[in-house]
Amino acid sequence: MGLKSIEFIRARSAGFQPRVGIVLGSGLGDLAHRIAPTRIFKFEDIPEFPTPRVSGHAGNLILGELGHTPVVALQGRCHLYEGWQMAQALVPVQTLIDLDIELLILSNASGGINPRFRSGQVVLMDSHIDGMFRAQPIIFQSKPNYGNLSRNVTLYDRTWIERAQQSALKLGFALSTGTYWATLGPNYETRSEYRMFRNLGADMVGMSTVPEAKLAFERKIPVLAFSIVTNVANSDNATVTDHADVLNWSSQAQEQLVPLIESLLSEYFPPSSAS
Ligand code: HPA
Repeated sequence: MGLKSIEFIRARSAGFQPRVGIVLGSGLGDLAHRIAPTRIFKFEDIPEFPTPRVSGHAGNLILGELGHTPVVALQGRCHLYEGWQMAQALVPVQTLIDLDIELLILSNASGGINPRFRSGQVVLMDSHIDGMFRAQPIIFQSKPNYGNLSRNVTLYDRTWIERAQQSALKLGFALSTGTYWATLGPNYETRSEYRMFRNLGADMVGMSTVPEAKLAFERKIPVLAFSIVTNVANSDNATVTDHADVLNWSSQAQEQLVPLIESLLSEYFPPSSAS
């Protein structure tokens, strides 16, 4: 059973074939301005698409060229805490996958619980803890890959993590990796929760990305996931986290993230290597 969104987009994009899908999370929509658009669709106009209800999530699907690479980007995402069912919330990412992308780049804003992290730092997810506790099942279209998940195969592609770290070094900064704890949200955590997450092995915490990464993994699309640490939780000292800070720090982090994604695409998806 195909998605109606695919039919809709294909009928309006005259053979445009994106190679990379990009999800721009909280405050990261700026990368969208670097894309020379071929077509921009509002989520609300695409059949079956949910529409984001949180500020900082514009709700556009953009087809276009980032440098010389044809991409499809979601400017904004829908979260489970907005009231969507898992299957609805995943339609936009499923659409990117069904457009036959070769790489999925995910991004999010997170709270840093590794005390070495700093606000505004970009961290690569190399693992996660799914604290969404399967509140709702992901409805897989094909046979699920639970076997692989439980055999400790990393969802986050090692080759792409290394490529991203190399590119970052060339641009003059180091990229740490970390384990992301996914909560349902929408609240930020109590100090006790931050402490518990830290003790259980997480480096950052946020409210998205994990279902998208699982879906892509199940569909055998390599995933590269960037997390922008927007606040560092000090579990011994009360600090207030609010959405404005999150947006502010993530927009600063774009100064690193945007050139990094551009250099990765120009190196690994050069114009001549069209498949
Ligand atoms: N907790 C959960 N999600 C977040 C946070 C946080 O501290 N900061 C940004 N997204």
